[in-house]
Amino acid sequence: MAMETFEKIKTMIKRSLWNAVFVVILALVTLVALVSRAAAQPQAPAATASPAFSQRHREAPASPAGADSGLRLALAQEKKENGKGKEEEKAEKAAAPAAAEKKEVAADTGDSCVSCHVDELRDEAVKNWSADIHREKGLSCADCHGGNKRDPQESSMEKSTGFRGKPARADIPKFCAACHADPNFMRQRNPSIRTDQYDRYLTSIHGRRLEEGDKKVATCIDCHGVHGILRSANVNSPVYALNVPKTCGRCHSNPQYMAQYKIPTDQVTQYRTSVHGKLLYEKSDLGAPVCNDCHGNHGAFPPEVTSIADVCGQCHVINRDMFVKSPHKVGFDKEGHHECATCHGNHSIQLTSDAMLGVEQGAICARCHESGSQGFDVARAMRAGIESLKAEMEKGKQLLAGATNAGIEVSQALYEFRAANVALIQSRNVMHEINPKAFNDVIAGGLQVARQGQKVGRTAIAEARYRKLWALWPLLGIILMLAGIGLRLRAPKSESERKEKQP
Ligand code: HEC
Ligand code: HEC
Ligand code: HEC
Ligand code: HEC
Ligand code: HEC
Ligand code: HEC
Ligand code: HEC
Ligand code: HEC
Ligand code: HEC
Repeated sequence: MAMETFEKIKTMIKRSLWNAVFVVILALVTLVALVSRAAAQPQAPAATASPAFSQRHREAPASPAGADSGLRLALAQEKKENGKGKEEEKAEKAAAPAAAEKKEVAADTGDSCVSCHVDELRDEAVKNWSADIHREKGLSCADCHGGNKRDPQESSMEKSTGFRGKPARADIPKFCAACHADPNFMRQRNPSIRTDQYDRYLTSIHGRRLEEGDKKVATCIDCHGVHGILRSANVNSPVYALNVPKTCGRCHSNPQYMAQYKIPTDQVTQYRTSVHGKLLYEKSDLGAPVCNDCHGNHGAFPPEVTSIADVCGQCHVINRDMFVKSPHKVGFDKEGHHECATCHGNHSIQLTSDAMLGVEQGAICARCHESGSQGFDVARAMRAGIESLKAEMEKGKQLLAGATNAGIEVSQALYEFRAANVALIQSRNVMHEINPKAFNDVIAGGLQVARQGQKVGRTAIAEARYRKLWALWPLLGIILMLAGIGLRLRAPKSESERKEKQP
């Protein structure tokens, strides 16, 4: 019975809840409808005579216009003739900031090149002009192309005005260098900007081949674009780190385009799978080198065999310093082995592992050092040193973990134990010096820490056993005490029982 009434009350509450929700939704829908109607009403006339549309079409009647916008234009003009002209125009300016701004740019600079090419002709070649850093800095078309920007006619482009027209491909670097290699001009605008791009470009393979008449190499606009040139720090710039491989790959990954040069076209593909490429693409880590970090921005050279260490050393400072001190620096340079790249590769550099070190299969040292040679022995000894450190560290780790599990506080020992790992990492670094003494010192330091950790772990575990044993004594005492209390509690109970039975 009670259950049934409870169920009934429950369904009643449920129903009234649903009713309430329905009413609320209905109210909301009505409200929204009312609000949108109210908002739509004053907008209606503006929509038929869009000021943005009418203004744009008065400025550029030649541009393609749909039938719809044509009608709007007619409507707007009709309104003007009805005498509301001036007020309407004011309202138009206020309501169409975009269009007004555009007009101001042209008006401010008095730039007929922009008015004609951008606003009137809607020239495809300059469609990205509004984003161009040169426009942002107040430069005009005429600053690059020459011509008279105050003349609204095509006569503005006569030779007599200094008009240079479209530069030939081979002339583009010089064309850009007119400003970018002129420190006086550039430093007035930005005191910190470099002005060596052209000089460096001339020393690059690209620049040298262009001088020789090869027009397929990269010129300034192949890497930076044209009429939409962005700052290199802008994420949309083709030379922004994340975009560089694609920019270089447009040519270097195109086998047909590069066929005549007999150089590989796999740099981008290989780079993508490298430790550096993964860092860039998967982690968006801009600390990873991209093409220009190793090849230079403007002096695009493959690094000289003997200077690769410096290229890598920009970031891997310690490895570079160690390598330079090693017998390999002299030996590699003499025999023409590429520094760093001989052992690590260039575009497909992978994560390293201890398996690379030594003389077993997969190790690289035995590629050049035969069994019985000093190099062979040193390689084997170095690997053995690393393996023994790893083994001792593992032992120490397990003993300390055992102590922690047994409830002994060893956090200080664990903290100190980290020095062993530092030594392990350091040994892989110092290895590049190929100096057995320096290497063994690092390993010995690590081993000492690892063994100290083992000692602390072992002592702690012994202590835990000891404590366990001692922990039994109080336990026994407690058990005895409990037993005593139990006995005592039983005694009065039986007395009262007896009392109960008595009457
Ligand atoms: C009245 C409109 C008008 C004005 C003003 C104007 N141009 Fe042109 N311009 C044209 C037309 C039309 C062409 C030829 C069509 C084309 O090549 O796109 C042209 C062509 C060009 C070309 C390509 C020439 C070539 O060698 O292929 C450049 C560069 C150029 N204009 C720059 C300028 C500069 C800089 C200014 C300002 C000093 C300017 N224009 C002013 C209409 C104009
Ligand atoms: C930073 C220098 C620079 C500025 C500023 C510049 N141009 Fe150019 N322009 C060039 C270069 C370089 C080329 C050659 C592009 C090529 O070879 O593909 C060129 C080519 C052109 C062409 C020929 C396009 C073609 O494909 O035939 C036209 C038209 C032109 N520019 C118009 C303009 C107009 C209009 C402006 C201003 C809105 C302007 N340029 C601003 C550097 C500039
Ligand atoms: C009329 C002079 C002039 C010419 C010609 C010129 N530039 Fe510039 N350029 C400038 C100025 C000024 C700046 C802005 C410098 C600043 O504020 O840092 C600039 C900025 C740049 C930047 C952005 C630099 C940055 O901060 O990353 C690039 C890229 C660039 N120009 C490339 C070119 C290329 C490519 C050409 C040839 C097609 C060219 N410029 C031709 C004057 C010029
Ligand atoms: C092979 C591609 C390539 C070519 C060709 C090239 N650049 Fe660059 N440019 C770059 C890269 C990459 C950067 C730097 C991006 C960064 O800083 O991360 C750069 C940066 C710049 C900058 C910014 C200032 C600086 O030096 O860092 C200017 C200005 C510039 N280039 C102008 C030019 C001019 C002018 C030319 C032609 C003489 C040219 N570039 C040719 C790739 C190129
Ligand atoms: C417009 C196409 C084009 C673009 C873009 C381009 N390159 Fe090149 N590059 C070439 C051509 C063509 C050669 C000439 C190859 C040769 O002569 O061996 C070359 C040569 C080179 C070389 C010398 C290769 C050798 O050993 O002969 C290097 C390094 C190089 N480019 C790096 C780059 C980098 C890095 C970028 C991007 C920042 C880049 N290139 C962008 C076309 C391009
Ligand atoms: C970590 C540094 C590094 C990075 C990143 C790098 N390169 Fe290289 N690249 C080198 C070295 C070192 C060489 C020279 C190796 C040699 O001569 O065998 C080289 C050689 C080249 C060559 C000459 C032909 C060849 O393959 O040997 C070209 C072209 C080239 N790189 C283009 C690129 C492009 C494009 C990118 C970007 C996708 C790139 N590189 C990224 C270091 C790098
Ligand atoms: C612009 C900086 C930069 C340049 C230049 C550079 N690297 Fe790196 N490299 C990194 C970064 C960042 C990592 C990933 C972080 C790390 O593990 O050190 C890395 C990782 C590596 C690794 C893997 C390290 C590991 O833990 O196994 C190797 C090997 C390597 N780089 C070799 C090279 C060589 C060889 C060159 C020159 C041809 C080079 N790098 C140029 C920044 C750079
Ligand atoms: C003789 C071969 C050889 C040369 C040359 C060489 N390396 Fe290594 N490198 C190795 C080996 C082997 C390892 C792996 C060591 C290990 O894990 O036990 C390694 C590991 C590395 C690591 C990861 C470990 C660490 O130190 O962080 C980096 C980064 C590295 N090398 C960079 C370089 C750079 C940069 C150069 C040039 C200056 C270079 N290497 C030259 C063989 C070489
Ligand atoms: C590309 C070949 C090459 C590789 C790979 C290589 N080495 Fe060497 N190594 C040399 C050359 C060349 C010398 C200098 C020999 C000389 O001057 O007589 C040298 C010298 C040495 C020396 C000095 C003793 C001697 O033989 O002169 C040691 C030790 C050594 N290497 C160890 C290693 C170790 C460890 C590795 C692996 C990490 C390694 N090498 C990888 C080429 C190589």
